[in-house]
Amino acid sequence: MFSKALAFLVLSVPLLATAAPAELAKRQVDTSSHCGQWDTVTAGQYELLLDQWGASGATSGQQCANLVSLSGSTISWKTTWTWTGGSGVKSFTNIQLNQGINKQLSAISSIPTTWTWSQSASGSVVADVAYDLFTSNSAGGSNVNEIMIWLANFNAGPISSQYGSDGKPVPVASNLSLAGHTWNLYSGSNGANAVFSFLPTSGTITSFSGDIKAFFDYLVQHEGVSSSQYLVTAQAGTEPTSGSATLTTSAYSLAIN
Ligand SMILES: *[C@@H]1O[C@H](CO)[C@@H](O)[C@H](O)[C@H]1NC(C)=O
Repeated sequence: MFSKALAFLVLSVPLLATAAPAELAKRQVDTSSHCGQWDTVTAGQYELLLDQWGASGATSGQQCANLVSLSGSTISWKTTWTWTGGSGVKSFTNIQLNQGINKQLSAISSIPTTWTWSQSASGSVVADVAYDLFTSNSAGGSNVNEIMIWLANFNAGPISSQYGSDGKPVPVASNLSLAGHTWNLYSGSNGANAVFSFLPTSGTITSFSGDIKAFFDYLVQHEGVSSSQYLVTAQAGTEPTSGSATLTTSAYSLAIN
């Protein structure tokens, strides 16, 4: 009996010892609400960017965002927006990764990510929920390719160089199995850089977990993107055009390995 009790004590010490740093890993972050057009809030390797780049196209509206917590590499955050008028995107409020970027695609082995979110909207909205990643010819250089991975398309649409007679964008590739889901790929330009958009073939992905290096590998193998390109920006957020909604990200993580 005594020896069993002692063995339990001995075993339980390392367990307690590993539990303590996990608690410490929950870091103090600025959880206050930010509503300025270009406000930013840094938390560990991440940065919340209000990025209301298209706000002048709205007749009225505003957007605010706040961090909720950072625990280990998992961040949670929230944004509430109302935009009226104008047919263009008003903002891309997002979480940017500031660690491990400016690597060549050929030097990246994996980009693991998780993103669990929900959106509550009042009435109909036009928006997407998406990853937005950019590559360049050099570290920190200007954008050459934009890679979007949409998890939701709320009455919006991707940039596309081809449209059908029904007015809908025509994918350059269909039914691609990548990172556990099925996607259509659209290709076009925003006037400044090439844009590749992967959209789920159906529905909305509110809990995504996978290695998104697979999307870059696809573009290198099939769409002429050079593996010597540098991944210069890795962001994930929402692009609203109109309506009113709150997007809550309960858990997000992204790493470039
Ligand atoms: C994609 O898959 C759907 C459902 O199986 C099918 O109806 C459609 O024809 C496929 N598209 C192409 C271009 O293969």
